[in-house]
Amino acid sequence: MTITAANEFAFATEAANFLHSQSPLRPAIGIVLGSGLGALADELTHAVRISYNSIPYFPVSTAIGHAGQMVIGLCNEIPVAVMQGRVHLYEGYSAKQAGFPMRVFGRMGIRTVILTNAAGGIDRAYSQGALVLIRDHINLQGQNPLSGANDDRLGPRFPDMTEAYSHRLQMIAQEQAAKLGMVALAEGVYVGLPGPNYETPAEIRYLRAIGADLVGMSTVPEAIVARHMGMEVLAISCVTNMAAGILGQPIQHQEVLDTGERVKGQLISLVKAVLTVVG
Ligand code: HPA
Repeated sequence: MTITAANEFAFATEAANFLHSQSPLRPAIGIVLGSGLGALADELTHAVRISYNSIPYFPVSTAIGHAGQMVIGLCNEIPVAVMQGRVHLYEGYSAKQAGFPMRVFGRMGIRTVILTNAAGGIDRAYSQGALVLIRDHINLQGQNPLSGANDDRLGPRFPDMTEAYSHRLQMIAQEQAAKLGMVALAEGVYVGLPGPNYETPAEIRYLRAIGADLVGMSTVPEAIVARHMGMEVLAISCVTNMAAGILGQPIQHQEVLDTGERVKGQLISLVKAVLTVVG
């Protein structure tokens, strides 16, 4: 059934109630794990794993490297709801559908979301495998998850996006990265494109010129919906590859997955450390 502005509140509430019926835990933090980054969810204790198929109205991911389940459990004793995989516009989903899981998080009472993704590095100072904090985004997906009539129970018609990505959470992430002995994390502007093809070198030059440091095919609808609902957002990109034309070699999806695999340990440590402060 298609999610529309008219049914979104009711559908998200039903999905949230369903998830609450599956676990006694009541997480205040929701986490989305992107391509190849799903391993954190395997470490939770007291975990229940709920396939997206069984959650009412939930969009089901088809991408390789996306398990497609919600895991509710404890991470260092902190209750969390972790999405192992997400849906993308290139799968044929609308931005509203891509943002729907954030509606469900919001209706579950979640106040903080941590989004992770795989991204191409546009800034030449990045290297493959680096973790970068998203400090802002540019929406070039050609769609907005908030389009259609606004439901005031979800959020305001014209939400402010001045601080889409929480400065407070970025500071916490930097402090925790330092404590873990990681190099200072770079902070960058993420541009969201619809995909599915990787960009042309000319597009990358254009994206650099308009102020983007990272490029990817996700995250933007989620961040917009989360902010619409007043949730605080932290987003971390894993630079799985340098963007097209920078290294003069083709970009392969397998490379994206392999790099995610290589740095997932670091990403998990960082997210866990952030949770100990935020949770
Ligand atoms: N471009 C777009 N999305 C991506 C890339 C990229 O180079 N790498 C991982 N996701």
